[in-house]
Amino acid sequence: MVKIPPHFFDHQRDVESQPSAVIVQNETKKSTSNHNLKKLYIKTYGCQMNVYDTQRMSDALAPEGYENVDTPETADMVILNTCHIREKAAEKIYSELGRMRKMIEKKNKPLKDSQKTKPIIAVAGCVAQAEGREIMRRAPVVDMVFGPQSYHKLPEMLGKLAKGQKKVLDTDFPTEDKFEALPEAKPANIISRGVSAFLTIQEGCDKFCTFCVVPYTRGAEYSRSIARILNEAQNLVNAGVREITLLGQNVNAYHGKDDAGNTVSLGGLMAALDKIDRLDRIRYTTSHPNDMDQTLINIHKTQKSAMPYLHLPVQSGSNKILAAMNRRHTRESYIEVIERIKLARPDIALSGDFIIGFPGESDADFDDTMDLIKHVTYSQAYSFKYSPRPGTAAATMDGQIDDEIATKRLHQLQQLLNDQQRQFNQNTIGRTLDILFERKGREAGQLIGRSPYLQPVYVDAPEAFIGQIMPVHIESLGNFALKGTLLD
Ligand code: 5AD
Ligand code: SF4
Repeated sequence: MVKIPPHFFDHQRDVESQPSAVIVQNETKKSTSNHNLKKLYIKTYGCQMNVYDTQRMSDALAPEGYENVDTPETADMVILNTCHIREKAAEKIYSELGRMRKMIEKKNKPLKDSQKTKPIIAVAGCVAQAEGREIMRRAPVVDMVFGPQSYHKLPEMLGKLAKGQKKVLDTDFPTEDKFEALPEAKPANIISRGVSAFLTIQEGCDKFCTFCVVPYTRGAEYSRSIARILNEAQNLVNAGVREITLLGQNVNAYHGKDDAGNTVSLGGLMAALDKIDRLDRIRYTTSHPNDMDQTLINIHKTQKSAMPYLHLPVQSGSNKILAAMNRRHTRESYIEVIERIKLARPDIALSGDFIIGFPGESDADFDDTMDLIKHVTYSQAYSFKYSPRPGTAAATMDGQIDDEIATKRLHQLQQLLNDQQRQFNQNTIGRTLDILFERKGREAGQLIGRSPYLQPVYVDAPEAFIGQIMPVHIESLGNFALKGTLLD
């Protein structure tokens, strides 16, 4: 079972939390008694795309005889799937590698030299892509470093180590398509990960916001073909998945080819996915305001499976800061997009990302951000202190903001967002919402599901209801989650 950390359901925010950065989870599956199997431990940092990549790495290693375990101590191979979006996320990797080194030393201490062993230690993901050589230099415990575009080559890389090569470093952007080179996931593995699944349809970014490392770590925008996506979605549904979240750094810039060679937008892909029987819910993240075209907006009006929830980051409410961020939209154009979306789907729940303390942010700029939040109103949102990232344009800009000021502003902004989230949740009390039951709750006889607006809801219901969508009367609001009762 993939362990979902509590905050994944809590929608809790802190100084360094967002859909990308809150997730630290292990891809785990209970060990069987087959001693020929090798044990694989993967720790995932960062965004949903890393969670998806971790699952695909497990799928790529399954034919090599690897099965997932939930602690590093017994593992034959450890992979850290890393995040580079902010400095804190990236620095975590070096402390984790220090822990790995100590764990190996402790295990080997009582042993004779000839008996000493060491798991293969690999660093994957965006830190690997950005700092591959530096990792090898700083952490001799590491055997393999590979970027997000190379995980389909895992068996080949392991082969090199087996043949005696000391270290493997692969941070190329290969021309071949990694998705097509990966084996299909097995139904049992798919459903062990839950009834709500991720599916990457687009990767990389051509927008070059001045604060962001993504165009450097994930590369240029790339869209998978319609046929491949439909095939993967059908496999997920066949295994029991009811909800798919389409992933991309710039997901609504999706422009994949259909069988006739025509380019299809995200709206077109959503319509094609809608034809899959028993795929009840479709979500997508993360979108850029400039790519919210009318076809996609209309899908929220016409297509029942398109969930009324949209993560549409604005980053700042100040036009001066938006220009310095190279966001290519203004506060006014963002509001105009929101208005068109609300016209199509008045009850849409909006989510966003905000960066506080971007270079040059004055009190007035910050007030503009607060004002925009009050105007739009969010059902949940994620906010961060600006973190200068190596190689990005903003890192060398004048007017870097004092940390104390940024912290104060961030707290003020989070207070407002928390109040809005609470209000949004409160407004659903007394309503009946369709809940997709996802997993068991903390208490016996309790399940946790999600509303169409992505709110976590606790309901007393039998385990057999996992994977079903049922009407639930929303009764109350706890600290972060709602409680409801089954209608019948
Ligand atoms: N500093 C702080 N936050 C950042 N983000 C991206 N880069 C940075 C940075 N350098 C945030 C943005 C983005 C989310 C994924 O992470 O808000 O939308
Ligand atoms: Fe980063 Fe901007 Fe691209 Fe989003 S749109 S991934 S913030 S560069």
